[in-house]
Amino acid sequence: MLQKNYFGYIVSRMEEKYDITQVLAWYIQSGVDTTCGDECCLKNQNKSQLKPVTSQSEIKNRLAVTTLSQTTNEAYKNARDICLKASNLSELKLMVENFEGCALKLTAKSTVFGSGNEKANIMLIGEAPGADEDRLGLPFVGRSGHLLDKMLNSIGIARENVYITNILPWRPPGNRTPTDSEIAVCLPFLKRQIDLIMPKIVLLLGGSAANAVLDNNEPISKLRGHWLEYTTSSKENILALATFHPAFLLRNSAQKSKAWADFLRVLKKLKEN
Ligand code: URA
Repeated sequence: MLQKNYFGYIVSRMEEKYDITQVLAWYIQSGVDTTCGDECCLKNQNKSQLKPVTSQSEIKNRLAVTTLSQTTNEAYKNARDICLKASNLSELKLMVENFEGCALKLTAKSTVFGSGNEKANIMLIGEAPGADEDRLGLPFVGRSGHLLDKMLNSIGIARENVYITNILPWRPPGNRTPTDSEIAVCLPFLKRQIDLIMPKIVLLLGGSAANAVLDNNEPISKLRGHWLEYTTSSKENILALATFHPAFLLRNSAQKSKAWADFLRVLKKLKEN
C-alpha cells in the first residue's frame, strides 16, 4: 500500500520479501536513519516507476528534492529557543546533549560539542564528527584532525589556542553527507557557540560549513580564499574565511597549497588586528 511517507512506502514494498527488522537494519547500514518530509516526494509518479532504494546516490537524490518538513521546522524553532537560554558554553553543551530533535543522535555514540579555548580569536568550524570523533567525543581527533593540527602549527598556532567545532554535533551514519534538515535543525546550536565565543575570525572548513554559516550555495572552490562576513545574532560582523576541508586535502594533496595560502591569510589578519 502507498503510504504518505516514501520511507514507509519503500518499507511496505520490501517487507513483502524481508523481515521488517532486517529491512530497517539494512537502511541504517546504508546511512538512512530518518524519514524526510511529511509527504511522499514520489507521490505524483506512476506507481510502477517506484522501486526500492538501491544506492547511496539514489538516496541522496531523493533527499535533495525534499523540502524542509513541518517536523524539521518545529525542531529548528525548538533548538533556536533553547539556545537563547544558554548564557555560557557549559549550559549550551548540556542543552545539546539533552536535545531530542535530531535523529542523528540515535545512531551516534557521543554528542561531539566544540572544544578548545573559549576566549579564542579563531573559531574553526567543520562539518560533522567522524568515527574517531564519535568514539572519543571530541571534534577533529582523527586523520583530518591530525592534518588540521599540522596546518595550524605551520602558522605558529597550537590547537589549545583555538576553538574547534562542527555544524553537527552527531556523526551521520557511515559518514554520509548531512541532509539539509539535519543542518537546519542543528544550526542554532552552532550560531549560539559563535555568539558565546565571539571570535575575531571564523575559519570554515569545507563547503558544508561555509554554506551553512554563510547561508549560501556557492561551491567551496569559489568561496575559499576571500574574506567574508558573518553577522551574529547581536548584529556584529565577524570576519569569515572558507578553506578546503582537511579530509578533502587528504585525498587531494595538490590543493594543499591553496589551503596553506588561506592559513597565511588568517595569520596576516590576526597580526593586523
Ligand atoms: N571532519 C569534520 O568535519 N569534523 C570532525 O570533527 C572530524 C572530521
